[in-house]
Amino acid sequence: MIIRQQLDFYRNNHGVSTSRTLFTSELGSNMETEDNFVVTVVDLYKEKKWREIVDRCHDHPERNKLLWVFPSEANLRFLTECLVELGCNGVLSIGCGSGLLEWILSEATGFRVSGVEVDGAWWQCKYAPPTFIPLLLTSSKLDKNVMNLLLRGDTTALLFCYFNNRDAFNEYLKYFSGRVLIIIGPGDGKGVHTDPKPFGDVTDDWILYKWEEVRNSKDYIAVYCKNNQAKDVEMIYKKKVNV
Ligand SMILES: C[S@@+](CC[C@H](N)C(=O)[O-])C[C@H]1O[C@@H](n2cnc3c(N)ncnc32)[C@H](O)[C@@H]1O
Repeated sequence: MIIRQQLDFYRNNHGVSTSRTLFTSELGSNMETEDNFVVTVVDLYKEKKWREIVDRCHDHPERNKLLWVFPSEANLRFLTECLVELGCNGVLSIGCGSGLLEWILSEATGFRVSGVEVDGAWWQCKYAPPTFIPLLLTSSKLDKNVMNLLLRGDTTALLFCYFNNRDAFNEYLKYFSGRVLIIIGPGDGKGVHTDPKPFGDVTDDWILYKWEEVRNSKDYIAVYCKNNQAKDVEMIYKKKVNV
């Protein structure tokens, strides 16, 4: 319903065609092309074609309007394996933006994926981009619902993708009871700033469990595990699958 209304807004205000258009062959700098990108992604979303979204959008010039990182199917398999190995059954994504990554992740992994965003006024206004999951909105000071989710998150992985607010990051971690933290963001050579970065920005409470580059984009998925539990979790998993 939210998507429908937001798309109607796009179409009414920018004369966007409702027909599907190809991305790369029609690139230009005008507004209509940009909006066609959003409309096309929404159409694919409605058809549940997440594979086509990641395959076709990952290098589109307008991709950041909806999502900063489009993981490949191999990246999504990597994430699924990490979540299974570490005993997680869900993901809570902080600063999820449009929620496109979170929707793709839930479709690809079968896990429950929720997303938290700040600034309710922006996300509820008609100029906001479409949203692909229901957003859990919070003020910049953590509200009770989100705090409860963090406190009851022992089988949940906490995800930050292109997050850029260190104080808020620390605040979320302060309440998080789970043992898995995922940071997706640019590596050193990318020339883009996030805070936290995927590497080197967490305290000694966390050890790097596994990491993988997103395609060859210089963006990285870094999976961390609570220091005192990483080895136990891996051992339990290995016993379970007999390796
Ligand atoms: C660069 S965007 C990344 C959005 C999305 N994760 C992506 O990869 O496309 C960072 C997001 O973090 C959100 N954000 C900033 N501070 C936040 C906070 N304290 N709690 C939740 N979200 C926050 C912003 O509103 C913004 O949508």
